[in-house]
Amino acid sequence: MNAATDSRDRPLHDLRISVTDRCNFRCPYCMPVEIFGEHYEFMKRPDLLTFEEIERLARLFVELGVEKIRITGGEPLLRHQLPKLIERLALLEGLRDLTLTTNGFLLEKHAQDLRDAGLQRITVSLDSHDEAVFQQMNGRKFEMAPVLAGIRAAEAVGLTPIKLNCVVQRGVNEGSILGLAKMWKGSAHIVRFIEFMDVGTLNHWELGRVVTSREVVERIDAEFPLEPVGPSYRGEVASRWRYKDGSGEIGVISSVSQPFCGSCTRARLTLDGSLVTCLFATGGIDLRGPMRDGASDSELREQIAGVWKVRADRYSEERSANTDLDGHVKPRAKIEMYHIGG
Ligand code: GTP
Ligand code: 5AD
Ligand code: SF4
Ligand code: SF4
Repeated sequence: MNAATDSRDRPLHDLRISVTDRCNFRCPYCMPVEIFGEHYEFMKRPDLLTFEEIERLARLFVELGVEKIRITGGEPLLRHQLPKLIERLALLEGLRDLTLTTNGFLLEKHAQDLRDAGLQRITVSLDSHDEAVFQQMNGRKFEMAPVLAGIRAAEAVGLTPIKLNCVVQRGVNEGSILGLAKMWKGSAHIVRFIEFMDVGTLNHWELGRVVTSREVVERIDAEFPLEPVGPSYRGEVASRWRYKDGSGEIGVISSVSQPFCGSCTRARLTLDGSLVTCLFATGGIDLRGPMRDGASDSELREQIAGVWKVRADRYSEERSANTDLDGHVKPRAKIEMYHIGG
């Protein structure tokens, strides 16, 4: 079957599946501890898609053109028996890339099982090389050592190439740009610096807190000369740069300064089975309801294809028009990051 295309001619290629809304971290830009305290009520088990349901929907998405699946959260390693889900997804015919984004804290324990289950590679969030900044940024004062052990374990079992994501915020961790680059230069791992985005409604975003990719590249290039590399696949979100001395590469994700909606081929499936067509959508289309009411595969497939066909999202391209001169963006309803996992 040909890939479904949306109203802007963008094919359905990637599916990001969130498997839990829980997280052991409390990054202030995602799950601020004041809101996600001890008594916060996360989604109840019966509301979550089961592994059978996720597998079924994922298969339908693959039939509609999806070639890459990324598991996200919250923190996906908190989902009970996650390798069992990976095992099922790894068997989907037509799927070329199966990966996962984690904060890495529990990765050391799980790396081998994930690999054995068929996970191909992994991305670990790492916002600083500096212990104090790292502890402040995870909102729980958790140490960095377990995350580094997780990255080593992932490397040892071959969950490679490993990407390390750093969301850069002015005045918070911009001082970690060079440190992170230095920390991983010479390794096979790729640090990717992400422009801080106005995802969700909780992170007090303003333009002044964004450090542009251009600035990131300039800062690193001044110390360790860089040169651009072409994308490794069509629609790649990160722009790649390599060290001129051959000691590896970095990536920058310019979601604010150079939005990439024109080539956005990503669909998102929330933990409770909503299909979301943009990171900044106000909501999703419920697939769990029809599925639990007995919809057939072809009915569900048609529903997914129908949603994709009318998709017109291009939030990041519209953001600048909605940002005032002081750098504040007009408030509107949005899905929270910990429900759709970035
Ligand atoms: P690779 O598959 O390794 O190329 O990575 P990826 O770009 O698919 O995935 P990853 O989850 O690591 O993306 C990194 C970050 O880029 C995310 O956490 C988001 O902050 C941002 N990002 C990813 N997809 C989108 C998107 O569709 N829109 C916007 N605006 N940002 C995105
Ligand atoms: N802007 C950019 N990236 C973000 N992430 C979480 N919140 C934001 C934001 N406001 C990233 C995390 C992780 C991925 C799941 O999304 O750092 O790498
Ligand atoms: Fe957890 Fe990731 Fe959100 Fe941080 S950004 S609170 S690690 S889900
Ligand atoms: Fe895709 Fe929406 Fe991000 Fe644009 S803002 S790249 S349409 S997810």
